Amino acid sequence: MTGMALAPRAGAQYARILGIGAYRPSRVVTNDEICEHIDSSDEWIRERTGIITRHFADEDESVVDMAAAAAEKALAAAGISADQLDAVVVCTVTHLLQTPSAAAELAFKLGAGTPAAFDISAACAGFSYGLAIAQDLIRGGSATRVLLVGVEKLSDITDPTDRGTAFIFGDGAGAAVIGPSDTPAIGPVVWGSDGAQTEAIIQDVTWRVFRNGATHKFPSLRMNGQQVFRWAVYEIAKVAREALDSAGIGADDLDVFIPHQANMRITDAMIKQLGLPESVVVARDIAETGNTSAASIPLAMGRMLEEGQIKSGDLALLIGFGAGLVYSAQVVVVP
Ligand code: UT7
Repeated sequence: MTGMALAPRAGAQYARILGIGAYRPSRVVTNDEICEHIDSSDEWIRERTGIITRHFADEDESVVDMAAAAAEKALAAAGISADQLDAVVVCTVTHLLQTPSAAAELAFKLGAGTPAAFDISAACAGFSYGLAIAQDLIRGGSATRVLLVGVEKLSDITDPTDRGTAFIFGDGAGAAVIGPSDTPAIGPVVWGSDGAQTEAIIQDVTWRVFRNGATHKFPSLRMNGQQVFRWAVYEIAKVAREALDSAGIGADDLDVFIPHQANMRITDAMIKQLGLPESVVVARDIAETGNTSAASIPLAMGRMLEEGQIKSGDLALLIGFGAGLVYSAQVVVVP
């Protein structure tokens, strides 16, 4: 039979973040502790990154455990129960099971019933990628309420003796519940990738090399810090500008700036490039949380809400950037 039209499914006109939840593991790791394994100093780490402490998960605390802790807070903030979720999406690069996804395990752990569940691998841009996808699921009618979690246990894949990465990463989880909205509350995403720079942040050996016994050292991250720094400051700041333009607002209309917490100096350089007025509140969670990749944006937003630095209804510019290299930005209304 030809010409049969399939029944369409319409979604909500708009989507918004309904609630945020943050979880940091209890163990606080100082720069001095990091410097027990690398030739560095508390002073150098503070000056070059803005990091004073970070949190590391316990040996037996998994990515799913941390995600669940953040998710429960986000659900409570949104006033939604787990069984009302239609989709569970986890952004992570540190779930050390190739399959099944962290999302399926998380959905079950939360008692969410049988929602769609999948993981996204977009490194430090993961949360912003996930937000774009969640909004499209809702507007397309494939889901009404989506749980989105950015979670990383970077201590599992960081080499404590690598002077280029050991001081920068931390562990944690940040979650958001996203649902329908009467008004636009998640701006258009501006995203992309530059696969010519895959080597800039990369797992040092493949699982195959490890399996074949060519190395007995557990695979870990390697980063060309200067290359990523330059790219973030000179190329990616433009993406943030495009996200403002796409949302139809100017820097003066913005209340909050929440960039991926990669390095305090990158944040400061972006503020300059964007010409953000002093009235804009800027996320500086990196000082106490380190760089938690996909978790960093929701962790920072959670802290800012808890500490009353920002309030519901504020306009926030989010931008993520990292391994791929990938990037993603949008303006959102703070829940
Ligand atoms: O989250 C995903 C995206 N990632 C990022 O956005 C990270 C971007 N990159 C960075 O944040 C920075 O490049 C780092 C913090 C990783 C490094 O800072 P940097 O200012 O780019 O350092 P550098 O590599 O240019 O090195 C500057 C100096 C060198 O010494 P000399 O040659 O000036 O005497 C290095 O040998 O700092 C030295 N150095 C260190 N000193 C103490 C390099 N690493 C260390 C260290 N401790 N760990």
